[in-house]
Amino acid sequence: MRIFSGLCCLLFLMVFLACKHDSFVDTTPDPPVVIDPNDTIPSNPGQGVPCDPDSVYFRNTVLPLLVANCSQSGCHNSVDRPDGVVLTSYPDIMNTVEHITDTDWSENKLIRAITETDPEEIMPQPPNPPLSVEQINLLKTWISQGARDNGCNESYAGCETAGISYVGFIQPLVQAKCQGCHSAASAQGGIVLANYDQVKTLGLNGKLYAAVTRTTNWMPNGGPKLDPCSLDKIKAWVDAGAPQN
Ligand code: HEC
Repeated sequence: MRIFSGLCCLLFLMVFLACKHDSFVDTTPDPPVVIDPNDTIPSNPGQGVPCDPDSVYFRNTVLPLLVANCSQSGCHNSVDRPDGVVLTSYPDIMNTVEHITDTDWSENKLIRAITETDPEEIMPQPPNPPLSVEQINLLKTWISQGARDNGCNESYAGCETAGISYVGFIQPLVQAKCQGCHSAASAQGGIVLANYDQVKTLGLNGKLYAAVTRTTNWMPNGGPKLDPCSLDKIKAWVDAGAPQN
């Protein structure tokens, strides 16, 4: 009997301690950090994106090329708009060029116009010189890669992933891009990312990086994907053991 009640006591103590331990999980949010608007959290497409030599970017190459060769007075600017075609912004190009995303070059109106052999039809119209083969290939590559409104940062020296700091990078990123939906008050998907322990747990179990890199329905939910350098930095921080540095 005594052994039995002793066991009971022990069991009770274990359960009690287990519960007690649970309630020790720190749910106090980190104090907010002041976010410098010029710092490393990019919000413009292109700002923190290094240029990939195999990609053709709309903002860096395609738009300047079209504006320089096609938008002079009387041509495809928003005032003159011959045939309704305007080539001075991404939405205009998407909305006014027939079959702009088509990679069948005999269908795509832009590629057809610049590769036309009839001098009456070819764009740019004589006496302007035709686009070079190299320029035509840049436009074709951009279309083949999805005709996206993309850009890259030409002076971006590369992504520094050594010694990523929680306080200096991870915390401000999570505060700016995640806590709106993942705080104690609004724990969407049951996820709270309000303090270091919570971010670290999701970092080390792989869910943090998986959520920001998955191919559909990525985080931030409904927003643009984080730029590649930020993703590399998150991975580097997790790989380093998610330190509170
Ligand atoms: C606009 C609201 C919103 C924002 C902003 C947001 N999330 Fe989420 N998050 C959700 C919702 C809703 C779910 C649950 C549904 C799902 O998983 O898609 C979720 C789920 C998650 C999950 C669990 C995914 C899984 O299935 O394992 C993680 C981890 C996560 N979010 C991390 C983040 C991170 C990191 C950020 C910031 C970079 C972020 N979220 C920004 C709404 C948001």
